[in-house]
Amino acid sequence: MKKSLAAISFVFITFHTIAQMPWYHHTTIYQIYPRSFYDSNGDGIGDIQGIIQKLDHVKEMGYETIWCSPFFKSPQQDFGYDISDYCDIAPEYGTMADAQQLIDEVHKRGMKIVFDMVMNHTSVEHPWFKKDVAKGKDGNADFYIWADKPNNWKSMTGGSGWQYSKERGQYFWASFLPFQPDLNYRNPEVKKLMLDNVRFWLRRGVDGFRLDIFNVIYKDAALRDNPFSWKAVPDEKNPDGFFQKFKYTINQPESMQFAKELRAVCEEFGDRMLLGEVSGDRKTIRKFSGDEKNDGLGLVFNFEMLRYKFKASYFHKLVENIEKDFPNPFMPVYVFSNHDRRRSIKRVKDDMQKAKLLHLFQLTVRGVPCMYYGEEIGMTDARIKFKNGLDPIAQKMRKYPRFIFDWAGETPNRDELRTPMQWNANTNAGFSTNAKTWLPVNNNYTTINVEKEKGDETSLLQFVQRVLKLRNDMGALKNGDIEFVERGKLPKNVLAYKRKAGNSEILVVMNFSKSEKSVQLPDNFSNVLLSVSPAEKVTGNKLHLSSLGAVILSRQ
Ligand code: NOJ
Repeated sequence: MKKSLAAISFVFITFHTIAQMPWYHHTTIYQIYPRSFYDSNGDGIGDIQGIIQKLDHVKEMGYETIWCSPFFKSPQQDFGYDISDYCDIAPEYGTMADAQQLIDEVHKRGMKIVFDMVMNHTSVEHPWFKKDVAKGKDGNADFYIWADKPNNWKSMTGGSGWQYSKERGQYFWASFLPFQPDLNYRNPEVKKLMLDNVRFWLRRGVDGFRLDIFNVIYKDAALRDNPFSWKAVPDEKNPDGFFQKFKYTINQPESMQFAKELRAVCEEFGDRMLLGEVSGDRKTIRKFSGDEKNDGLGLVFNFEMLRYKFKASYFHKLVENIEKDFPNPFMPVYVFSNHDRRRSIKRVKDDMQKAKLLHLFQLTVRGVPCMYYGEEIGMTDARIKFKNGLDPIAQKMRKYPRFIFDWAGETPNRDELRTPMQWNANTNAGFSTNAKTWLPVNNNYTTINVEKEKGDETSLLQFVQRVLKLRNDMGALKNGDIEFVERGKLPKNVLAYKRKAGNSEILVVMNFSKSEKSVQLPDNFSNVLLSVSPAEKVTGNKLHLSSLGAVILSRQ
């Protein structure tokens, strides 16, 4: 057995706990992709009643807030991210009454629910767009962004984002895909109507919104050309790409100002969550939350860990950096998977033990964890042929050979990570009674499913549930400061940090390596509250960590 001993010392890298924290700064978020969660009416597509039927399960797991990807009226060209009516529900998901019931049922269970607001663009089917197109350029119809001649702007998915409307005889701007025209927020009428849509749902009781591509909500008013850049591929920290610096299309100061306006609208209804999908380096995304005060979006996603490296040093550095840019009163959001990117378990070759460590980290670090449905059971990406991809991104990308994306560590066909939730080992993984589900169920559903893992105390599900329970019960984990154990004083590839709120104090120690490790514990931290496996042992002030072992300790 390879052993290394190390003394522990702490380095303070955050500020002290704030007394008053908004609820969404210490919550846990569970993302539901409605189409894939549970089909209550046997049409092969998940629906709102399906979510309602599974709420007890979500509650039992210990998640506090649910974020639902959009189920508003939509032609579903981008599966709901192309809305044609913000105040109605797509029939395949249910009715307005179902949506209201969902909000009420969530609240009955003492949980919160946030909807997904796609404010940047609508569907081409939205009546506003139809009106803009029909009125023509002299008809004062500028709900969208029109130009006689396209400038050089590239869309976020590559290629020019300008689309020609024959009927109007002009080009409209679409930041994402051609059927998602961007609204013109420089038109006060657009802003007013969209804020009315926001109020419509706040009045019905939603606890806030996840905001789709909020970073592009404003574009340069003069439509100036973007400068050249050598950067070919956008990434989490820098959205520039396709040989262009997105100077005039992304992260405009007006968008940050709009974040504050939106916050004020939410505050008319109390303490509501705004969680922005933004991109750029940490300092830039922080700006959407406000400058010194957290008076913009209460939260913004941090996506940099989507491409994590399974190494203690990586996580140490990550937190250290994030803490610098998101000190109190800001709160970082840690995202390891979502409906757009490959599932986090794929980066560790579907290793369940490693997935436990990832979850432990995400749920015990200072920040709001945002978890994607199925992550808690270790659902893996399916392999679906490009040519069969329903995802519009797959359709756009399938002219390129697949291996390029594999090599880049990306999944260009989002169908692969949106397969139906695996509830049990019955037909269709218990997701639907229909012979054909909207996407195929992953073949591994007989071994990876909720029912099976509920009955296995070594399962990922039970582990996640235990960590969530501890987090929910302990002030230190919910809203405590974080103090790091210096890396140099720990065995190689071991990470350790302390969380502290008032008298509540815990120590998390994780072994990211396959070899066993031994750590010398500070005096009283010898009470094991939770461990990855029974092999983790404390003898006196020495902690023995098994391969990929981890523990949460309190003082004796
Ligand atoms: C980002 C969303 O997460 C993604 O799923 C969607 O396709 C685009 N925005 C366009 O709305």
